Parts: sequence; C-alpha cells; structure tokens
Amino acid sequence: MAISDTPHSAERILVCVAWPYARSATHVGQVVGSVLPGDIFARYHRLAGHDVLMVSGSDEHGTPITVDADREGIPPRAFAARHHATIVETWHRLGITFDRYTETSTAHHTRIVQAFFLRLLDQGAIFKDTMESPYCPTDRRFLPDRYVIGTCPYCGNDDARGDQCDICGRTLDPTQLLEPRCKICGSARQAIEIRETEHFFLDLPTFEPQLMAWLLEKRAAWRPSVTHFALNWINEGLRPRAITRDLDWGVPVPLPGYEQKRIYVWFDAVIGYYSASVEWAERSGDTEAWRRFWALRPDGAAPARSYYFIGKDNIPFHAIIWPAILLGYTGLALPYDIPANEFMTMGGRKASTHRGNVIWTNDALDSYGADPLRYYLASILPESRDTTFTYAELVRHNNDELVATYGNAAHRVLTFLQRHFGGRVPAPGPLSPADEAMLAELRQGFTTAGEAITAVRLRDGLATAMGVARAANRYLEDQAPWKRVKTDPLVAATATYIMAQVLNGLKILFAPYVPFSSQRLHELLGFSGDVTQVGWRAEPVPVGQVLPAPVPLFDKLDMPPPSEREGA
Ligand code: MF3
Ligand code: ZN
Repeated sequence: MAISDTPHSAERILVCVAWPYARSATHVGQVVGSVLPGDIFARYHRLAGHDVLMVSGSDEHGTPITVDADREGIPPRAFAARHHATIVETWHRLGITFDRYTETSTAHHTRIVQAFFLRLLDQGAIFKDTMESPYCPTDRRFLPDRYVIGTCPYCGNDDARGDQCDICGRTLDPTQLLEPRCKICGSARQAIEIRETEHFFLDLPTFEPQLMAWLLEKRAAWRPSVTHFALNWINEGLRPRAITRDLDWGVPVPLPGYEQKRIYVWFDAVIGYYSASVEWAERSGDTEAWRRFWALRPDGAAPARSYYFIGKDNIPFHAIIWPAILLGYTGLALPYDIPANEFMTMGGRKASTHRGNVIWTNDALDSYGADPLRYYLASILPESRDTTFTYAELVRHNNDELVATYGNAAHRVLTFLQRHFGGRVPAPGPLSPADEAMLAELRQGFTTAGEAITAVRLRDGLATAMGVARAANRYLEDQAPWKRVKTDPLVAATATYIMAQVLNGLKILFAPYVPFSSQRLHELLGFSGDVTQVGWRAEPVPVGQVLPAPVPLFDKLDMPPPSEREGA
C-alpha cells in the first residue's frame, strides 16, 4: 500500500535568519517574525531530503549595543557576550535547529567584513567623503545613530531613533531628525551641533539599475509588501550611505588613520549570513562547503535557493543594502526570497523591548513549554498582516487543537491498541472505501502541506496538518473500533491499523511545527531513533510492531491568571 509521498529530488536551501541584537533576551515577537518561520522551513526541507544550511547569530556591534552597555556601565563585549549566551540557551529550549548560530564579534567575522570592505573599496563601490554629523559638546563626541533621538521627518513620530523610525519603518540619518536631542546627556536640543566628519560611503546609486531589474523580476513571486517597500525606496532615490561611524565598538576600518572609526553595524551584520556559513564549513571539516550555498556557478546561476526570514523593519537592509553589497563583492548569490513578516502586536501595541511591552521567550517557555508556544506562534504568523498575541488564545489553541484534536486522536488509538491488541499493531482486513479515503486524505496532506511550506505559507502548512488530524478524528468516530471490536473484530482491527498509519503520518506533518511531540509520538508508535530522519512521508507501521504504554501527547493548560494575561 503506497502511503508515502515520493521524495523530491535534492535541492539546496540556504535559510538565513535575522540576527537579533545581543542587547537583551529575545521576545516572542522576534521568534514569530524570523526565528520560528526559519526553523519550520528548514525542518521541512531537511525532512524532504534537501541539502539545508540554516545560519544566524547575535548582532553585537553598533549603537544598539553600546547605548545599552554604556547605561549599565559595562564594556560592550561583556554586555553582548552575556546576552548572546542567554539567546543561545533560548534557541536550544525552543528547539531551533541552526546549523550555525554565531556572533558578530568574532575574529573570523571581522576578517570577512574587512575583506568585503576592501574589495568594495577597490571596485569603487565604497568611497570616502565628508559628512555632517550631530556632535554633542557636553559629551565631546559625535552622536551616531541611536545616540540621537528626535522627530521623524516623514511621519512625525517624535521618538524616532537616528537610524530608523519605528513607526513608519523608514531608515534615517541622524541629521534628518527634527528637534534632535542627545541620548547620553539627554540634554538640550539646542546644544547639539552639526560638525564635519570623514566617512566611507556605499555608493548605492551605482547599483540602482541592477537592483531595479532584480526586484522587478522578483516581484511576481515575492510577498507584495517586500517588493513594494524596496521599489518605493528606489523610487524615492537611492543615496550613498555612510558605512562607517565615529564609535569605538565594531569592526575596525582596515586602513591606517581610521582607528577612531568603526564599520557601520548594518554593513557588518548582513555579511554575517555569509561569514557564518564559512564558519560552519570550517567547523564541519570541509572548508569549502559554503560554496554549495553561495558561490555563483560559472554561468552566473545561484547554487542554492536562499531565503531570508526577517521582520518588515529589516526590509531595506535585506532587499537593497545587502544585495548591493553582494553585487559589489561579486561571485555570491543574491537572495532568492525575502519572506518578510508583518508585526505581531501585544494587545494591539507593537512589541518593543525599549517600551517594556514584551513577552520574553524564556518566560513563555517556562509557563507553557516549547511545543504549545511554537504551535500557537505558528498559527498566528504575521505572514500577510499584523497579528496579536494573547495568552488566552495560546491556551485555547493548545486545548482545542493540540489536546482535543491531534492529541485526542493519538491517545484514543494508542490506548485502544494497548487494551485490545496487547500493544501490537493488528493485521488489517480488506480496506473499505472509508479506509482508502482516510489514507488518500493523508497522502494529499503531504502534498498540500509540502507545497504550502515551500511557498513559505507556513500557516497553511500547519492548517493542513490540523485538517488531517480532524479528518482522523472523524474517521475514528465513524469506525468506532471500540464498539465494533465485539461485533466485527476485523473492521476494528483494520481501523486501528489505518489509524496507526495516519498517526505515523501526522507525526511528520506536524514535525516542522511541534518537533518535540513528534519525537514522542514516533516513540509511542514503537520506533526508535530520531524522527527527523524519517523523511517527508508516512513511513509504514508494520503489522505486529510493539508499542509502549501510551502517555498523552499534550497537556491541557489552565487559563493564565489575569495578572499574566496580555503581558499586564
Ligand atoms: N539586529 C537587527 C534587528 O534586530 C537584525 C539584523 S539582521 C542582519 O533588527 F542580518 F543584518 F544581521
Ligand atoms: Zn550629550
């Protein structure tokens, strides 16, 4: 009986996940925006037998780090290292399967960023110029990026940072801010001076025709919000962008005379996707392995499909600046897709660490565990519009869907199988149309979910898996083997057999989303080893397979106390 899907031919998939700043632990907004979708996608492609590399790391440079480290009075390196360790631990608890999760403060990354800088300088894509920069006479220093706050010239948000406005998403230059004030001394707007300073610039305008052609070609396949934002940015007119800063923390400018300056954090961070891949290759023992994901073929074709999982506030850096850097560097593949997500709000307000309106990933893990959290977040992924996180909904999704649908089908069948068949998978009789229909629905589930995930419609992939679980419950109700076992034992045995096959398929359909319970179900169905090795298919459960004593797959959750709700 063919219930397994035919394996796809091997493809290469590079999964790039936005690098969180090592300035705090992570919050669930970062998980839902980039890390979880990246992990679901990577897990699926590995199951489908593809060659997958998933990389990210902690973003440790620049003013996002120094502003907070200064506030705590500790060196940026120690500050970042502490948060990096916490973040790594969170990914482990959440079951995130990075092939390499590194950090930007390594010597390796520094070397690679400097090589990019020098190559682009050599090619004329980086040039030197003077610019006007805010300067605080009280602190006697230039005020790059987040050291200045003020009013956004585009949308009027009066809490815009010098590098970006959180409200309208525009990237900014500190000098564009209206009514700028100094973040360090908080002091008077009128105290800030504008002084000349020398910097290196990425010559974005020279890449405009190439970027434009590339984006227009991508437009049909990408999420409309991404191409729309990027094309708008180009249409507003690309300007050269300063890629050095007056700072003492970051990648040093690899030229004499610039000891007081550092490379801009965003220039260094995006290069991290590549440097982390090289680091992964070196650690794997095959130092050239990164080539199969990055190095353009002689005919210019990309060796792999690269997907960048990011939140929408990162679109300009991934859809314009990183591609421009890659075009200037030459020889490496541009992004294949940038499935940027919208935001997840907390009770209608944007989750944001500095506004204190957040749910920390570790707190949610403590309260609910990895799979219920992953399941809920996957079911509300902000793929096409903003969504809202509430604890009440997390509990409801867990209780109504994981427990009452998927878990219920598993537990009823496994306990019945234990009680009436001595824990051994019974031999089926001839299959009825209902049995065949159930198996067909499972097979179709693999096709439908696989197509959805490939198209980065991850919510649809999950809905498909849950749809099959619902169908399995209906099938089980109709067949009622617990009733038929006395009157019609062969039918009861057949239904039990079919359900063992269906559960074995469900464990795979759900595996990208709730991997810990898939591993448990794998074992409850009498298999050993790692469920990730099974493949994207319903592996047959042989007649006579011995199953261990069943335990429920999921636990019912209590409603959170009111004090815990909505991050109150
Ligand atoms: N640290 C940035 C943020 O949290 C994201 C950086 S993505 C990278 O917004 F690729 F550039 F690293
Ligand atoms: Zn100041």
